[in-house]
Amino acid sequence: MAILKIARIGHPYLRKKSVEIEDPTAPEIRELVANMVDTLADAGGVGLAAPQVHEMLRLVIFFVPLASEAADRYHDAGLEDDDEEIALTVLVNPVIEAIGNETEAAYEGCLSIPHMTGEVRRPRHIRYRGLDLDGNVIEREAEGFHARVVQHECDHLDGVLYPQRMDDMSTFGYSDEVQKDDDLPESK
Ligand code: NI
Repeated sequence: MAILKIARIGHPYLRKKSVEIEDPTAPEIRELVANMVDTLADAGGVGLAAPQVHEMLRLVIFFVPLASEAADRYHDAGLEDDDEEIALTVLVNPVIEAIGNETEAAYEGCLSIPHMTGEVRRPRHIRYRGLDLDGNVIEREAEGFHARVVQHECDHLDGVLYPQRMDDMSTFGYSDEVQKDDDLPESK
């Protein structure tokens, strides 16, 4: 077990395209994933992409907690009560396609941009495909938070961070400041 160092915004690895993994069953990939799982748990996030831990490989891990269990524990980024729980998933060489034209805006956070959040509009409904560590195909449809976390993590594989997806930079800020929005007294 090892907790890996997480690259922060500005690091060149977060701006570059990662390469496909030739053999998802290789022991070094399994070891990397085990360390990424430990790192994700330690950091208190819901997803992590290999380039965030300085490995330029097309590999992401993520899960979707229940909204009721997520409060304050994760950057819960718009998790709703009706979002389905998704167990920890490892995706090698993932590919995403949007289904339909519907988009949705929600706040996101990123372990590479600590303490910050911002509103990002993304396709609401997607299909994704990738391999697991045994080389089996995983193919799923996803909506809501699940679709968002997969798109966010896969963006890392192309060197894209969520602020690059934002269309209203006025929503970008420190999470604890942005959360004050709800607490402001009504203007009279
Ligand atoms: Ni991220």
